[in-house]
Amino acid sequence: MPEHSQVRLQTARLRLRELGDQDLPALRAILQDDEAMTAYEGAFDERMTRDWILRMRERYRNDGYALWAVESRDSGAMIGQCGLTRQHILGADVIEVGYLFNRAHWHRGYAVEAARACVDYAVTALGADRVWAQVRDTNIASMNVAIRLGMTVRGRFEKHYRGVTMPHLAFALDAADVPGER
Ligand SMILES: CC(C)(COP(=O)(O)OP(=O)(O)OC[C@H]1O[C@@H](n2cnc3c(N)ncnc32)[C@H](O)[C@@H]1OP(=O)(O)O)[C@@H](O)C(=O)NCCC(=O)NCCS
Repeated sequence: MPEHSQVRLQTARLRLRELGDQDLPALRAILQDDEAMTAYEGAFDERMTRDWILRMRERYRNDGYALWAVESRDSGAMIGQCGLTRQHILGADVIEVGYLFNRAHWHRGYAVEAARACVDYAVTALGADRVWAQVRDTNIASMNVAIRLGMTVRGRFEKHYRGVTMPHLAFALDAADVPGER
């Protein structure tokens, strides 16, 4: 059970809180899984997994947000990650919503539920006028999450990561189109 102060967002089924070293085993099950990491060109090794936590903790310190651990409110288990990061997309500094879940918990609507709460937070608490999601052009599951969030495609660009050129689509949702913000 996390400290109450660590909980950043809560939905009907999920709790989002900061990632820490105690999440390493659950994080390995996501970041070291070849299938979950297809869009990132395959599984991370142990060093990359540990560096991931350090990078998120640095973002918490500098920005006040990053990808958070997603816990099931039922079991308390860490089943995924979802949150907000500062990114540079199509020439602009923007806020992106990101989501990565443990394969055992896919297809239950968790990604959309967690991401919706993050989009709302970006608009209401951070004052974002638009929230983005950058999706590799092969990642249909992620595109469908973005579409379920109400996002539309705003452009295309290429990323260069792990020695590979990856075409991406830039999805976004305007604050005015977030339910409750109209
Ligand atoms: C992307 C990801 C988070 C989606 O998780 P999920 O648990 O399936 O998402 P949800 O259950 O909330 O599903 C939302 C919608 O996405 C779509 N979807 C999910 N997986 C899909 C798949 N494999 N193929 C096509 N559509 C898919 C469905 O339309 C689904 O809605 P529905 O079940 O009501 O029809 C998950 O596949 C994942 O963790 N992938 C690896 C990490 C990753 O690539 N993250 C995105 C980086 S940009």
